[in-house]
Amino acid sequence: MFSASTYQGRRSRLASDLGQGLILIAGNIDAAMNYRGNPYPFRQDSTFLYFGGPDKPGLAMTIDPATGRSTLYGDDLTLEDIVWVGAQPTLTEQARQAGFVEVRPMSKLSGDVQSAGDRLHYLPPYRGDSILRLATWTGRTVEKIQSGFSEALIHAVIGQRSIKSREEIEEMTWAVDLTGRMHVAVMREAEEGLHESDLASLVTGMCEAEEVVPAYGIILSKDGQTLHNHHHGNTLESGQLVLGDFGAESRMHYAGDITRTFPVDRHFTNKQREVYEVVLDAEMLAIEACKPGVAYRDIHLHAARIIANGLKDIGLMKGDCHEAVAAGAHALFFPHGLGHMIGLDVHDMEDLGENFVGYDNTVQRSDQFGLAYLRLARKLQPGFVLTVEPGIYFIPELIDQWKAEKKHADFINYSALEKYRTFGGIRIEDNVLITEKGYQILGDPIPKAVAEVEALRYIV
Ligand code: GLY
Ligand code: MN
Repeated sequence: MFSASTYQGRRSRLASDLGQGLILIAGNIDAAMNYRGNPYPFRQDSTFLYFGGPDKPGLAMTIDPATGRSTLYGDDLTLEDIVWVGAQPTLTEQARQAGFVEVRPMSKLSGDVQSAGDRLHYLPPYRGDSILRLATWTGRTVEKIQSGFSEALIHAVIGQRSIKSREEIEEMTWAVDLTGRMHVAVMREAEEGLHESDLASLVTGMCEAEEVVPAYGIILSKDGQTLHNHHHGNTLESGQLVLGDFGAESRMHYAGDITRTFPVDRHFTNKQREVYEVVLDAEMLAIEACKPGVAYRDIHLHAARIIANGLKDIGLMKGDCHEAVAAGAHALFFPHGLGHMIGLDVHDMEDLGENFVGYDNTVQRSDQFGLAYLRLARKLQPGFVLTVEPGIYFIPELIDQWKAEKKHADFINYSALEKYRTFGGIRIEDNVLITEKGYQILGDPIPKAVAEVEALRYIV
């Protein structure tokens, strides 16, 4: 954990930002997998952690803006619990580490919360059990709980969590460095005849060895054209590309989120290298464009134009690149956003609402296919940490549909595209801190230039 004064400072800023009412931040409980005694691995709520909540199930905190008092609610283990799970630090000991002076049993929470009446501020619950617990504590219906969250609290939490402190950056750098070692290991070990699951287990094993877990479901496949592909059942064959998008979560739960793409063979084919260089250009030039005051939407569009231009050079797109991107034609190849905030969550604070996190009154979310998926669009500020992750994908089902509709036929060379149906996909992703003057890529460099990637590949 960070120091008690760090958490006290965060809670008092939250109290002064809200100014009135009672703030309730609930921790998570164990979620049953197939019966209650066999739960999914426990993951604490990120906002609860951020404000000093212990990393244990079944807790909640309140912050009273009028008095500045923070209270941790929970119960110590019973003797019977200790028989099964062993002795744990008492709640009072855990509270002290995060600077809480008051600890109350869980049975007191409902009365304390109900005495705040309509002045209660809580965040949108994203788990069914959280909705039910909030309904029980407040005496409100499930429907009321789902609609009655506090936008003022959302904005105040996003205001703090968006700007990473020096100690958070250190924690994130640790996650990215381990993530980088995982990627290098995968790039070294992959070879024809191995299963994708052999590589995925290498990733989980390296996390396990550091007593941490992956920050999100591992994407590691020769079918990189499927954006969130969690299937690891294929055998690697010569001529294929492998896309690996995975990251470690640090012990304090900060995420790393890195993508690399490499050939199953020792070298990229010319055709693979041509497309790879376009994605790499888009990634590096997009990173170079990162600085305070620039809207991330503009950097997304900049990357999209680099992709359109590169695909035009290859003969897959045609016409004016600015017009092609304005029309959304590039989204056949680059159908997702350039990146997202990252922190305690891999898509940081997405539970609070993507539009609250990534958009504001200066930039509205587009409904155009591709651009609509951009999670972060607003102006960058020093302290933001975000991903930069352009890609080029050949999705046969999407190509077939667009071709049949002659969609954007002025910008897409559908006949040349036929030779790319089984190409797969390429994405390259780094995690970037916005500094006062520009940017810093987090962690030790992870090989991504063609020669660096090929140097890691096995010798045949
Ligand atoms: N790493 C997966 C994603 O950013 O959606
Ligand atoms: Mn990502």
